[in-house]
Amino acid sequence: MNHKPRTALSWVEISRSALRHNIRLFRELIGPRRKLMAVVKANAYGHGLAEISQLSLEGGADWLGVNSLEEGLRLRSLGIGAPVLVLGYVPLDGLEEAIAADLRLVVYNPETVDRLAEVVRRAGKDARLHIKLETGTNRQGVTDRQLLSFVRRIRKRPGLVVEGLTSHFANIEDTTNFEYPRRQLDIYKTAVAELAAGGISVPVKHMSCTAAAMLFPETYFNLVRVGIGLYGLWPSKETFLSCRLRKRRPPSLHPVLTWKARIAQIKTVPKGAFIGYGGTYRTTRRTALAIIPVGYYDGYGRGLSNASHVLIKGRRAGVIGRVAMDFLTADVTDIPGVGLEDEAVLIGRSGKEQITAAALAALAGTIAYEVVARINPEIPRLVV
Ligand SMILES: Cc1ncc(COP(=O)(O)O)c(C=O)c1O
Repeated sequence: MNHKPRTALSWVEISRSALRHNIRLFRELIGPRRKLMAVVKANAYGHGLAEISQLSLEGGADWLGVNSLEEGLRLRSLGIGAPVLVLGYVPLDGLEEAIAADLRLVVYNPETVDRLAEVVRRAGKDARLHIKLETGTNRQGVTDRQLLSFVRRIRKRPGLVVEGLTSHFANIEDTTNFEYPRRQLDIYKTAVAELAAGGISVPVKHMSCTAAAMLFPETYFNLVRVGIGLYGLWPSKETFLSCRLRKRRPPSLHPVLTWKARIAQIKTVPKGAFIGYGGTYRTTRRTALAIIPVGYYDGYGRGLSNASHVLIKGRRAGVIGRVAMDFLTADVTDIPGVGLEDEAVLIGRSGKEQITAAALAALAGTIAYEVVARINPEIPRLVV
């Protein structure tokens, strides 16, 4: 089936069946009773916030996790009524809108709590809050020593409800040694026990991300936040290896995203021609070039210059010369019959070949998360 949009230079295809498959895998892991949060921040890791949010809920996700107020409001403007938790920071001046839109908030600043108390009083509406416990990531959060007084500060304000206690692992993807996440988990569990001893029970407890969901059922509690795995991507090689080492069968994730472009020009240059900015590539033979209208503005990293491939007619074509702001160049000398506006696959499959986000990440010295999250949000996303 041809999904090429009429005028887009490049486009992203989102596979509904792959997403559903991945959701099913995580649902099987966590069981029917726990809630599954689809983490759709960063434009759903570059996959398209609107498309992925709707498909995830249809596929069985219960909650959505965003980073910002704006992302949360966008979900509400799409008519999405499911629980939405804002995982990132909401500026004090944005709290009123957040509460009006029934967004749940992660909190860790007394200033936020104080402002929320005023907001809910004026709005006559409760705010459901999830306290972020600092267990070792040293990003957002209150420490275990601050927790009890922070909870009390919230609970004494009418209309502020402590719905959740959350934390986030710092070093669970990049390693096969899990001492540090175990320590984080211990701090979290101790905090839960101390709250319980103080007569405070928090209904929604959540700490698990994709790697934790794959490796450690003891991190599930009653809500599991899955990002990268839903998109069919592994958090890292170490996570894959850890599944094997722990004799857990690695789940067969299906990549959800394919990124395609149309070729803008085919031309032949003689042996000895310099290609692109800086003359970083010189042809060693008469060379057929496909000029592809995708560059670092689109999210195709400049670090892929002279390193990656694209797929054309099921064959690999090396990216030669520098990746520019809006263009890259591929060597199609060995691929017969390539024509203007033929498709080039930047991420995904063509015939028997595949280019994964992980492979591009390795070439560019980054992680698959960044490769997909950076795909420019203006590029059309099509559900196929
Ligand atoms: C707070 C929080 N929870 C969950 C996730 C999801 O992590 P993953 O994509 O590894 O599943 C993230 C991602 O960075 C996060 O920041």
